[in-house]
Amino acid sequence: MSKITAPEIRARKSKAKIRMVTAYDYPTAKIASRAGADVILVGDSVANVVLGHGDTLSVDIDVMVHHSAAVTRAEPDALIVGDMPWMSFHVSPEDTVRNAARLVREGGVAAVKIEGGRKRLDVIAAVLDTEIPVMGHLGLTPQSVNAMGGYQVQGKKVHAAYEMISDAQALADAGVFAMVLEGVPDRVAQIVTAEVQVPTIGIGAGAGCDGQVLVMHDILGLGAGDYLPKFVRPYANLADDAVDALERFFADIESGAFPSEDETYHMPDESFAILRDLVEAETSVDR
Ligand code: KIV
Repeated sequence: MSKITAPEIRARKSKAKIRMVTAYDYPTAKIASRAGADVILVGDSVANVVLGHGDTLSVDIDVMVHHSAAVTRAEPDALIVGDMPWMSFHVSPEDTVRNAARLVREGGVAAVKIEGGRKRLDVIAAVLDTEIPVMGHLGLTPQSVNAMGGYQVQGKKVHAAYEMISDAQALADAGVFAMVLEGVPDRVAQIVTAEVQVPTIGIGAGAGCDGQVLVMHDILGLGAGDYLPKFVRPYANLADDAVDALERFFADIESGAFPSEDETYHMPDESFAILRDLVEAETSVDR
């Protein structure tokens, strides 16, 4: 397969469902690629999922470049989208462009994602002007956790839903190639999906979006914490499988069952005999 591009993702609107997943490093990008992901998001959720922070506010552009580069080295066919972290697009359009360019040049991504609606139109326009495709992100935008007062579903009330629909239209008019809708009531997501000309990719936004995304570690049951939002469907329980594997390894160390003969390097008998004679001769001189 050839590399999937942002214009190809945009052209999927109302045609084929978009399959998006997060990856933060080389092995997870390889896994996403083998499974047939259309889009790999190097999400700032790396902060919670991999680095153990309580929110996404703790990662900066250096961290996102580092993880993006690891994902890029896996050479997936999927479009790689790099998340613009908090404060990488809030200072000025010039600063935003510099940070987006770092994700492309040093991180190797082919598009960036920016959280927020009409408030962010100036920085989105500046990035688009440098020919970097932008993915929007509306609804429960985790970088706004403090302003929102927690991680709550957004757009439950008429006014908030109406504002979100207007944000979505403004983002599409500005030229984003797709947008994530996170933590949004399904009927609001359906209206957005019907109203905008670009694909919507849902996470906790119901089945009516043009695609779906989940955090890979949630899908695989690889998370360190117990809490999973209701929109997550774990398809595996790899953390338990991993603990089981390590427990068996440790038990084999204790019992001496590891390593076996097959897992051991051997010296040819002749060489060993010479070596032993040498060591013995040296030991007798020392005495
Ligand atoms: O950072 C992330 O993982 C995201 C997705 C949940 C959309 O933004």
